[in-house]
Amino acid sequence: MDRIRIKGGRQLKGDIRISGSKNATLPLMVAALLSDKKLVLHNVPRLADITTMIQLLSQHGVEIDAGTGENGHAHGTTLTLQTRRISSTTAPYDIVRKMRASVLVLGALLAREGAARVSLPGGCAIGARPVDLHIAGLRAMGAEIDIDGGYMVARAPKGLKGARYTFPKVSVGATENLMMAAALAKGTTVLDNAAREPEITDLAECLAKMGVPVSGIGTETLVIEGVEQLKAATHTVIPDRIETGTYAMAVAMTAGDVELVGARLDLMEAAAQSLRAAGVVLEKTNRGVHISRANGLHGVDVMTEPYPGFPTDLQAQMMALMTRAEGASMITETVFESRFMHVPELSRMGANVTIHHESALVRGVPKLRGADVMATDLRASVSLAIAALAAEGDTTLHRVYHLDRGYERLEDKLAACGADIERLKG
Ligand code: UD1
Repeated sequence: MDRIRIKGGRQLKGDIRISGSKNATLPLMVAALLSDKKLVLHNVPRLADITTMIQLLSQHGVEIDAGTGENGHAHGTTLTLQTRRISSTTAPYDIVRKMRASVLVLGALLAREGAARVSLPGGCAIGARPVDLHIAGLRAMGAEIDIDGGYMVARAPKGLKGARYTFPKVSVGATENLMMAAALAKGTTVLDNAAREPEITDLAECLAKMGVPVSGIGTETLVIEGVEQLKAATHTVIPDRIETGTYAMAVAMTAGDVELVGARLDLMEAAAQSLRAAGVVLEKTNRGVHISRANGLHGVDVMTEPYPGFPTDLQAQMMALMTRAEGASMITETVFESRFMHVPELSRMGANVTIHHESALVRGVPKLRGADVMATDLRASVSLAIAALAAEGDTTLHRVYHLDRGYERLEDKLAACGADIERLKG
């Protein structure tokens, strides 16, 4: 298993190119199941999760061609996806257990084929993460769903019907699943209390290009008119706002000066506001976002919430930054239970953090020390890399495969800005 070694103490300076959004790309790829026409996606990041989605969709019968940037999209991969026919309606346990976002195929398969068998994702390092909302929403559209042998077995022999469904809790994945099901359902679907994340907006805009009338884009009420057939479409994936926030925090941690090329500040206003309160300078430039720091860091309180609130996917990174701030910071996680696995590892590096139910009190310390630390999930692992950049001595990050699910060439991007970082193979 690969490890990453980081020697702390270098300021980050230069440019970092921000990749396309992983969490936008995954549902966009699944949308290809809805149509027999081509879907071309530009600016796709090169990540392990994308490879897993290619594997899953291929076994459903999607033909996928991966090329490098064309049409002026010189960054990331261009994927061309086409589903002339669905060859299997089963999403097997072996793939779903590797990547929870696999459950997104449920709505699309059911809408196109009238049947789907999708493994339950099972346990996850960050809380229980059930799929009850996905199931309840599809049932409201006329699906019959049973749980059998660890699988969701869904049928809609007469097709899905448009319905009005109010999510009892905001869920990104359930909103995406229902949007895709609604695209091929008979009639109009109204989704209330829908998630408003930029990745939802990206999917809505792509569905619109594929010929599905969608209104209320960016609001908590999405209205989708089902169609009989979708059209060919081309779409460019939005930049990754979580990768952007992560590098902004890494730069702030080292009191560096970096331009995040291709980033969009408008997609991360809550995080930008917290960072500014902590003393970080974020400026929109014509290439992206410029990050610097005039003075020291101050502790700020942060609470995670669905978009447009502070994203849970930046909570661990913000905590790493706050370990070195002046004063205390209260970090409250309201989206997921047990998403503080990074705390014991940060503590091993000298951080002072006390957990109390869903909040963590972080008291800034004058220095962190390098250590052997272990990644437990994607965002937790990158928070340890941020801490390591400012720690005295060497840190070795183990279980780097978590990081590779969501960060494209992290060590290359940081090394190009002056970090002392290397990947140790095997
Ligand atoms: C997506 C993101 C993930 C991010 C999360 C919240 C992708 C691939 N992943 O995950 O990176 O951390 O949004 O922004 O886009 N819930 C239920 N029942 C359900 C579904 C969800 O109770 O049927 C709960 C979850 O346990 C969690 C909350 O709702 O507490 C939000 O989860 P959700 O928005 O669904 O997250 P994901 O779509 O899995």
